[in-house]
Amino acid sequence: MRTLNVALGDRAYPIHIGPGLLTQPELLLPVLKTPRVIIVTNDRVGPLYLAKLRDTLEGAGVRVSAVELPDGEVHKDWMTLNCIFDALLEGRCERSTTLIALGGGVVGDMGGFAAATYQRGMPFVQVPTTLLAQVDSSVGGKTAINHPLGKNMIGAFYQPRLVLADTATLDTLPARELAAGVAEVIKYGLIRDSEFFVWLEANLERLMAREPEALADAIERSCRNKAEVVAADETEQGERALLNLGHTFGHAIETGMGYGEWLHGEAVAAGTMMAAELSCRLGWLGRADVERIAALFQRARLPVWGPELGVGRYLELMSHDKKVEAGRLRLVLLKSIGRAVMHADAPLADIEAVIAARCR
Ligand code: NAD
Ligand code: GLY
Repeated sequence: MRTLNVALGDRAYPIHIGPGLLTQPELLLPVLKTPRVIIVTNDRVGPLYLAKLRDTLEGAGVRVSAVELPDGEVHKDWMTLNCIFDALLEGRCERSTTLIALGGGVVGDMGGFAAATYQRGMPFVQVPTTLLAQVDSSVGGKTAINHPLGKNMIGAFYQPRLVLADTATLDTLPARELAAGVAEVIKYGLIRDSEFFVWLEANLERLMAREPEALADAIERSCRNKAEVVAADETEQGERALLNLGHTFGHAIETGMGYGEWLHGEAVAAGTMMAAELSCRLGWLGRADVERIAALFQRARLPVWGPELGVGRYLELMSHDKKVEAGRLRLVLLKSIGRAVMHADAPLADIEAVIAARCR
């Protein structure tokens, strides 16, 4: 097992990474306030891993209840969130009960939002089961649901007490979902870790083949990058926004296509190519580097072209971005591979041109 720390003072927490962690009660017990938990999962992950986690906890004397949500990004909404509150109340969960989110980023984001708001906040643990959730969404305390007009628009910053990334759960992850997680892994190389980008160029096929050592290395390096950024800027006043490389374009793709049509990681890959193209147009990134980024995404079987939503529709959707300030669009762009910057002054004509150029 490898362990990292998210350094947030008295709210600091560990990230444990390794195979078989779901069956290790000694990792979970120290963070429970009382021997009572509710596990939030979905109807896809539940049948695979709920019994295992329940047995681990019950075997250690913990009282466990569970709620299975309908699976999918399309259900990351108020109605499904309310199912969690129903289960919390029907199960007479207390403020000291721990909510454990068992699943991918959708379950983690919704479980976290429920934990942040139920009785004004209850202890929360992330047990991520997708690559995307193990490298990104389970760490850092962003929780949210979607609104028909925009992704992740309603939410809260609320940190977990523990992240338990059992890498053995990735064995059952569909290949398309694994690839979507790789998009966020590549993101860390692009925004702040050029050595990691080079490592990924050398090891991408090992990752895609789920070689345990390669997966653990990539998850650890990604979490290390994320933990450093979150510790420095928990509530996204500055540096943390760089983690959103490709996301302004990508969220427009997800919302514009209808939630669930494009996976989050797929939209981030195509969106990152738009950001790279704009960085090239502004004279920062060379054409060869744009092609280098595209080549890595393509080796991960990720899209490098966005869907044809129409430039006007992209801009309308992008105007809802959380980084918009005083009505001005702020985009994360690349000065080079390994160095991202926030930029508010990209000419509209250039933004329009790169959207048009990178859609097919
Ligand atoms: P997801 O949660 O929808 O999971 C993908 C699919 O895989 C689902 O069908 C899920 O049920 C299934 N699944 C999960 N684990 C499995 C397993 N071990 N075996 C088989 N199937 C499994 O999607 P995701 O890619 O994990 O997360 C995407 C979400 O995360 C988006 O809503 C995005 O906005 C959010 N996100 C949040 C943050 C954050 O910081 N909070 C960061 C990045 C992304
Ligand atoms: N995934 C972006 C963030 O956590 O800030």
